Amino acid sequence: MTALDIDFVRAQFPAFAEPGLDGQAFFENAGGSYTCRQVIDRLVRFYTQRKVQPYAPYEASRLAGEEMDEARTRLAALMGVATDELSFGPSTTQNTYVLAQAFRTFMKPGEAIIVTNQDHEANSGPWRRLAEEGIEVREWQIDPQTGHLDTARLEELLDEKVRLVCFPHCSNVVGEINPVAEITAMAHAAGAFVCVDGVSYAPHGLPNVDELGADIYLFSAYKTYGPHQGIMVIRRALGELLPNQAHYFNADCLYKRFTPAGPDHAQVAASAGMADYVEALAAHHGHAGSAAETGAFVHDLMRGHEIALLQPLLDAVKDRNNVRLLGPSIAETRAPTVALALNRAAEPVAAQLAEFGIMAGGGDFYAVRALEAMGIDPAEGVLRISFTHYTSKAEVAKLIEALDRVL
Ligand SMILES: Cc1ncc(COP(=O)(O)O)c(C=O)c1O
Repeated sequence: MTALDIDFVRAQFPAFAEPGLDGQAFFENAGGSYTCRQVIDRLVRFYTQRKVQPYAPYEASRLAGEEMDEARTRLAALMGVATDELSFGPSTTQNTYVLAQAFRTFMKPGEAIIVTNQDHEANSGPWRRLAEEGIEVREWQIDPQTGHLDTARLEELLDEKVRLVCFPHCSNVVGEINPVAEITAMAHAAGAFVCVDGVSYAPHGLPNVDELGADIYLFSAYKTYGPHQGIMVIRRALGELLPNQAHYFNADCLYKRFTPAGPDHAQVAASAGMADYVEALAAHHGHAGSAAETGAFVHDLMRGHEIALLQPLLDAVKDRNNVRLLGPSIAETRAPTVALALNRAAEPVAAQLAEFGIMAGGGDFYAVRALEAMGIDPAEGVLRISFTHYTSKAEVAKLIEALDRVL
């Protein structure tokens, strides 16, 4: 497998050359990543040259509209879906909220949905509120020790009443990568759709949603090197079936149906920079191919680097008796989002790490249900250290050293 050229990668992120951040190793990437140069450049260009109402018949407007379309076209192609199956919304939380409104009228009382207690609240609360309409909410529960979601338990919950199964590709505190294709196949066999929260997974390599088979796949661009937007893939068969949530005259346009608000033009346009970045990575590492092949190549390139850096970190924390590592200790099976329960409040420990030049966070990370299910007091929270492919080996070594001091 090709090794990631970390110097090339870091040169694409202005934050690494920013004097104000010098000497600070960033380990709160699951909260929000650094932004790549390609996105920042497009954002500046949009605000300076194209900040007019898009899709009108004058040059600046034509360019603005074209750039917004380009973002959808290229990101959709990288993820193996059609252009109009990808849409933007203000955040993943707001996107699930709108989708839940659609299911609220689509489903009938007595029908059921399945949610997990592993999810971030964004892919849980809005769905649970469907109980107000007489919809049965079934909870697919994690193992209280490991945080693992067992597909055997899902099998027990599935029957002909279930219309939708909501689950994370990867939890933002457990970190384990769930077998999306397998879960989706099980749900589909039972006649249910799936809604996958990919927010904690996508930064580690955009997935091919067609291959996963998911009906809905959500992620947040601001955690994936882009601007502050939520991105949703809604496959056509489901998107056309669900009731339109946008203005009535936009009902025939799939990518507008679940975005009732006007989009943030500049940020949508700048998201094309995320595709620029993925393609620049592929080209620099000698890869040429279709968009979907490029997406897969860069996914594997990122994962390879992350796995190599993650294992030593897991090894350094997994056997400490004053620390409980959430999720698996084998790097291949998880994202580099590592939550540690400490039997004391986590945030002061994050503050101690800051003294060693480590930026990390402590708290519940809106995964309150998951922490409670694992017997962790959300008020104490967990120390979360999360990195991505742009993190260097030296930064991980510095983190391990700092952890040795504070834990
Ligand atoms: C796993 C996961 N899902 C959903 C969200 C919510 O995303 P947004 O901030 O775009 O609403 C987050 C944010 O932290 C998250 O980590």
